[in-house]
Amino acid sequence: MPTYSFTFERCLLKDLAPSISKAVALAKDACAKAYAPYSHFKVGCAVLLDDNTYITGSNHENAAYPAGICAERAALSTLDMSDHERKVIAIIITYQSASEKQDPLSPCGICRQTIAEIQHWQKSPIAVYMCSPLDEIIKVADATHLLPFGFNNDYLKMD
Ligand code: THU
Repeated sequence: MPTYSFTFERCLLKDLAPSISKAVALAKDACAKAYAPYSHFKVGCAVLLDDNTYITGSNHENAAYPAGICAERAALSTLDMSDHERKVIAIIITYQSASEKQDPLSPCGICRQTIAEIQHWQKSPIAVYMCSPLDEIIKVADATHLLPFGFNNDYLKMD
Protein backbone atom coordinates (compact mmCIF):
# COMPACT_ATOMS: atom_id res chain seq x y z
CA MET A 1 0.00 0.00 0.00
CA PRO A 2 1.36 3.48 -0.77
CA THR A 3 1.64 5.54 2.39
CA TYR A 4 1.99 9.22 3.14
CA SER A 5 3.94 10.45 6.12
CA PHE A 6 5.63 13.60 7.26
CA THR A 7 7.63 14.79 10.21
CA PHE A 8 6.87 17.64 12.54
CA GLU A 9 8.85 19.25 15.31
CA ARG A 10 7.94 20.46 18.76
CA CYS A 11 9.84 23.70 19.35
CA LEU A 12 10.59 25.75 22.43
CA LEU A 13 10.21 29.50 22.17
CA LYS A 14 13.70 30.04 23.55
CA ASP A 15 15.28 27.87 20.83
CA LEU A 16 13.65 29.59 17.85
CA ALA A 17 15.72 31.63 15.40
CA PRO A 18 15.41 35.36 16.20
CA SER A 19 13.43 35.99 12.99
CA ILE A 20 10.88 33.37 14.05
CA SER A 21 10.61 34.43 17.68
CA LYS A 22 10.01 37.97 16.44
CA ALA A 23 7.24 36.58 14.25
CA VAL A 24 5.72 34.85 17.27
CA ALA A 25 5.66 38.20 19.08
CA LEU A 26 4.07 39.86 16.04
CA ALA A 27 1.47 37.11 15.82
CA LYS A 28 0.59 37.70 19.48
CA ASP A 29 0.25 41.44 18.82
CA ALA A 30 -2.01 40.71 15.85
CA CYS A 31 -4.03 38.29 17.98
CA ALA A 32 -4.68 41.05 20.49
CA LYS A 33 -6.20 43.09 17.64
CA ALA A 34 -8.52 40.34 16.42
CA TYR A 35 -12.17 41.21 15.94
CA ALA A 36 -13.94 38.08 17.14
CA PRO A 37 -17.07 39.19 19.00
CA TYR A 38 -19.03 36.11 17.88
CA SER A 39 -16.66 33.20 18.41
CA HIS A 40 -14.48 34.90 21.06
CA PHE A 41 -11.67 32.90 19.42
CA LYS A 42 -8.95 35.42 18.64
CA VAL A 43 -6.29 34.44 16.12
CA GLY A 44 -3.11 36.23 15.09
CA CYS A 45 -0.81 35.43 12.21
CA ALA A 46 2.62 36.72 11.24
CA VAL A 47 4.29 35.87 7.95
CA LEU A 48 8.06 36.06 7.53
CA LEU A 49 9.15 37.02 4.02
CA ASP A 50 12.52 36.37 2.45
CA ASP A 51 13.53 40.02 2.62
CA ASN A 52 13.19 39.74 6.41
CA THR A 53 10.01 41.77 6.52
CA TYR A 54 6.73 40.62 8.03
CA ILE A 55 3.08 40.88 7.23
CA THR A 56 0.44 40.23 9.85
CA GLY A 57 -3.26 39.66 10.17
CA SER A 58 -5.94 38.73 12.63
CA ASN A 59 -9.34 37.17 12.26
CA HIS A 60 -12.10 39.61 11.48
CA GLU A 61 -15.62 38.35 12.02
CA ASN A 62 -18.96 39.60 10.75
CA ALA A 63 -22.57 39.41 11.93
CA ALA A 64 -23.16 37.58 8.65
CA TYR A 65 -20.86 34.78 9.80
CA PRO A 66 -19.45 33.54 6.45
CA ALA A 67 -18.26 37.07 5.67
CA GLY A 68 -15.56 36.77 8.33
CA ILE A 69 -11.96 36.02 7.44
CA CYS A 70 -9.28 33.99 9.19
CA ALA A 71 -6.08 35.59 10.43
CA GLU A 72 -3.90 33.63 7.97
CA ARG A 73 -5.83 34.81 4.93
CA ALA A 74 -6.10 38.35 6.25
CA ALA A 75 -2.29 38.42 6.42
CA LEU A 76 -1.58 36.55 3.19
CA SER A 77 -4.03 38.59 1.15
CA THR A 78 -1.64 41.54 1.53
CA LEU A 79 1.18 39.61 -0.17
CA ASP A 80 1.88 40.99 -3.63
CA MET A 81 1.97 37.93 -5.88
CA SER A 82 2.43 39.94 -9.06
CA ASP A 83 6.07 40.85 -8.44
CA HIS A 84 7.36 37.31 -7.83
CA GLU A 85 9.97 38.86 -5.60
CA ARG A 86 9.13 38.41 -1.96
CA LYS A 87 8.63 34.81 -0.98
CA VAL A 88 7.11 33.41 2.18
CA ILE A 89 9.57 31.69 4.49
CA ALA A 90 7.32 30.96 7.45
CA ILE A 91 3.82 31.43 8.79
CA ILE A 92 3.26 31.71 12.53
CA ILE A 93 -0.20 31.34 14.01
CA THR A 94 -1.36 31.83 17.56
CA TYR A 95 -4.65 32.33 19.37
CA GLN A 96 -6.47 33.19 22.57
CA SER A 97 -9.49 31.19 23.65
CA ALA A 98 -11.50 30.61 26.79
CA SER A 99 -11.82 26.95 25.83
CA GLU A 100 -10.19 24.29 27.98
CA LYS A 101 -8.38 23.06 24.89
CA GLN A 102 -5.18 25.05 24.53
CA ASP A 103 -3.32 22.95 21.97
CA PRO A 104 -1.27 24.48 19.13
CA LEU A 105 -3.58 25.85 16.45
CA SER A 106 -3.35 24.46 12.98
CA PRO A 107 -4.90 26.33 10.05
CA CYS A 108 -8.41 25.64 8.86
CA GLY A 109 -8.91 23.91 5.52
CA ILE A 110 -9.43 27.06 3.46
CA CYS A 111 -6.28 28.60 4.90
CA ARG A 112 -4.35 25.42 4.13
CA GLN A 113 -5.48 25.69 0.53
CA THR A 114 -4.47 29.38 0.44
CA ILE A 115 -1.03 28.63 1.86
CA ALA A 116 -0.61 25.74 -0.59
CA GLU A 117 -1.41 28.09 -3.50
CA ILE A 118 1.36 30.45 -2.42
CA GLN A 119 3.84 27.63 -1.90
CA HIS A 120 3.02 26.28 -5.35
CA TRP A 121 3.43 29.75 -6.85
CA GLN A 122 6.78 30.46 -5.22
CA LYS A 123 8.13 26.92 -5.68
CA SER A 124 9.79 26.82 -2.28
CA PRO A 125 8.56 25.37 0.99
CA ILE A 126 6.72 27.40 3.60
CA ALA A 127 7.26 26.42 7.23
CA VAL A 128 4.19 26.62 9.44
CA TYR A 129 4.61 27.26 13.17
CA MET A 130 1.43 26.45 15.05
CA CYS A 131 1.45 28.00 18.51
CA SER A 132 -0.67 27.62 21.60
CA PRO A 133 -1.47 30.35 24.13
CA LEU A 134 0.91 28.46 26.44
CA ASP A 135 3.76 28.80 23.93
CA GLU A 136 3.71 25.19 22.85
CA ILE A 137 4.83 25.23 19.23
CA ILE A 138 4.58 22.66 16.48
CA LYS A 139 6.55 23.23 13.29
CA VAL A 140 5.83 21.67 9.93
CA ALA A 141 8.64 22.44 7.48
CA ASP A 142 6.51 22.17 4.36
CA ALA A 143 2.94 23.49 4.23
CA THR A 144 1.79 20.84 1.77
CA HIS A 145 2.11 18.28 4.57
CA LEU A 146 -0.98 19.94 6.02
CA LEU A 147 -2.90 19.32 2.81
CA PRO A 148 -2.00 15.96 1.27
CA PHE A 149 -3.38 15.31 -2.21
CA GLY A 150 -4.13 19.03 -2.51
CA PHE A 151 -5.61 20.71 -5.54
CA ASN A 152 -3.47 23.21 -7.42
CA ASN A 153 -3.40 25.03 -10.73
CA ASP A 154 -1.49 22.24 -12.50
CA TYR A 155 -4.98 20.81 -13.00
CA LEU A 156 -6.10 23.93 -14.83
CA LYS A 157 -5.31 24.88 -18.38
CA MET A 158 -3.59 28.23 -17.90
CA ASP A 159 -2.90 30.73 -20.70
N1 THU B 1 -9.86 31.10 12.64
C1 THU B 1 -8.72 31.65 12.14
O1 THU B 1 -8.54 32.87 12.08
N2 THU B 1 -7.75 30.78 11.71
C2 THU B 1 -7.84 29.43 11.77
O2 THU B 1 -6.96 28.74 11.28
C3 THU B 1 -8.96 28.81 12.47
C4 THU B 1 -10.13 29.68 12.71
C5 THU B 1 -10.90 32.01 13.08
C6 THU B 1 -12.13 32.06 12.22
C7 THU B 1 -13.18 32.54 13.19
O3 THU B 1 -13.12 33.97 13.26
C8 THU B 1 -12.72 31.98 14.52
O4 THU B 1 -11.36 31.64 14.36
C9 THU B 1 -13.49 30.76 14.98
O5 THU B 1 -13.56 29.82 13.98
